[in-house]
Amino acid sequence: MKHSINPSRRRFFAQTGAGILAYAGMPAWVQAMSGMGDMPHLPPRKASPGFHADVEIDLVCKPSAVSILPGQATQVQQYVAKLIKGPANTLSELPGSYLGPVLRFETGQKIRINLHNQLDEPSITHWHGLHVPADVDGHPQYVIDKGQTFVYEFEMLNRASMNIYHPHPHNTTAKQVYHGLAGAILVNDAEERRLELPGGEYEVPIVIQDRLFNANNQLIYAGHMRDRMMGFYGDRILVNGRPDFQLEVASRAYRFRVLNGSTARIYKLAWDDNSPVTVIGTDGGLLETPIDKPYVMLAPGERLDVWADFSGRKVGSQLVLRSRSFSGVLPGMAGRMGGGMHGSVLPVGSDYPIFSVKVIRQVSDSPALPKRLSQINRYSLKDTANPTKPVPIEISEGPMKMQLNGRPYAFNDVLPSERIPVNTVQLMQIFHGQGGMGMGGGMQHGEGRQGMGMGMRRGADDSAEGGHKMGGMGGGGMGMMMARAHPIHLHGQYFQILSRNLDGGQNRDYATVKDGFIEGGWKDTVLVMPGETVKIIKPFQDFKGLFMYHCHNLEHEDMGMMRDFSVE
Ligand code: C2O
Ligand code: CU
Ligand code: CU
Repeated sequence: MKHSINPSRRRFFAQTGAGILAYAGMPAWVQAMSGMGDMPHLPPRKASPGFHADVEIDLVCKPSAVSILPGQATQVQQYVAKLIKGPANTLSELPGSYLGPVLRFETGQKIRINLHNQLDEPSITHWHGLHVPADVDGHPQYVIDKGQTFVYEFEMLNRASMNIYHPHPHNTTAKQVYHGLAGAILVNDAEERRLELPGGEYEVPIVIQDRLFNANNQLIYAGHMRDRMMGFYGDRILVNGRPDFQLEVASRAYRFRVLNGSTARIYKLAWDDNSPVTVIGTDGGLLETPIDKPYVMLAPGERLDVWADFSGRKVGSQLVLRSRSFSGVLPGMAGRMGGGMHGSVLPVGSDYPIFSVKVIRQVSDSPALPKRLSQINRYSLKDTANPTKPVPIEISEGPMKMQLNGRPYAFNDVLPSERIPVNTVQLMQIFHGQGGMGMGGGMQHGEGRQGMGMGMRRGADDSAEGGHKMGGMGGGGMGMMMARAHPIHLHGQYFQILSRNLDGGQNRDYATVKDGFIEGGWKDTVLVMPGETVKIIKPFQDFKGLFMYHCHNLEHEDMGMMRDFSVE
């Protein structure tokens, strides 16, 4: 179906005499506000005869059932893959998991992936972290319907790194990821290979997610406005799709490839015996040198490469990776309650285990941690096209809105500041807009009501409840409603963090998280705390077109906290 305006809207405009021209003349964000800013629906991309793939994969997304908890199997949505061409280690399953197989690629490979949608709803897959052309980046304008196939073709331009594949349909990304559609992508290159880091069974993907199950082992997902504002939180931690995950290891060094695949939950990862977390890489691959951290903050969409050395530990000994307590990522009241309608069982920022490691085998040799890991050319202001005029990414949040640059997502609504000349390096500044930290004058009544309208439209089922809840919370002080942390993600190439600054200096909450940020590596997602301004430097090379940026709290993203950069 081709649609730029849906038929009932069209009728509405005809009846009110406003007509189609009035619609066309409205700014796209006004159209979006009133539910009119529909995506185009394009025919699915086909294979191009001139592209000679080194690797070809059939990737299916479909409904499925997986046994997760004892008893009844859980209905999920799942990626299933088949290797058509390429090295045998390209695909590796995570046994018993709803997660898609780990995809392993090599820098320089030419890759073709045929995505077959067998879900009963539209979807499209995005390669989070990969530097690919706009038409194969999984922009929601490319969603395909049930029974359709979309062909991705690209060359792997990334350095060695861990990335993610997950759906990106407009307004339903969180729901599809929550129901199981996600997987890890590992890229290898020559620079990494020279280090002879732990591989094979000693390199372990650790995908951390939280889920909420009903009494019949079925997944419960957000229906309420409050879940969207705060993000949705489960009370069960799953690692690689399994509850109570335990890894049996030999007494030697391992490489843990950690990914936060939760829709909203932020973790503060630390070992329970207080030994430091040795980090060797971030979203965009290896750091220059390893660093030891007392703990590491990991927000949705972020990755971490951890060197975990169990040599010297006795057979039978155990170590637990925990999420330690912290505060300040959710508004005061919700933070204390734990976030999520159902959620005081596992409050965000409380102290709980993620998974445990048990030493079951003594070995005498273990690789040594390399002193130097990789070469990262640090950008400085003089490398940027706009050293005095950063591209703004303003976080605008209010009682009923989650936006960037003051506007909800709308297709084809590109601000002048969102037009980026191709092959430039840009200074960008992510910050909280006026009113973000409190009610102090930012929010007006009309604005609030418009926001409310948006919320209601998303599902008739939750509108009354959402409205009621929010009204109730108003009494508790709107100021507390406002401030929350947002993991901001930019599509396309990785960026570097130039600086982080906190309004009014550091506070008690910030002190609970500040030692957990890693600034020296390549990133594609950065956790921006309340009151914080983060400056980044990001290259926009090679490809023109629309590249999204959004909050990777996927409930926020689906509420409209997403925009496009038009690289031109
Ligand atoms: Cu992982 Cu646009 O997302
Ligand atoms: Cu992405
Ligand atoms: Cu957010």
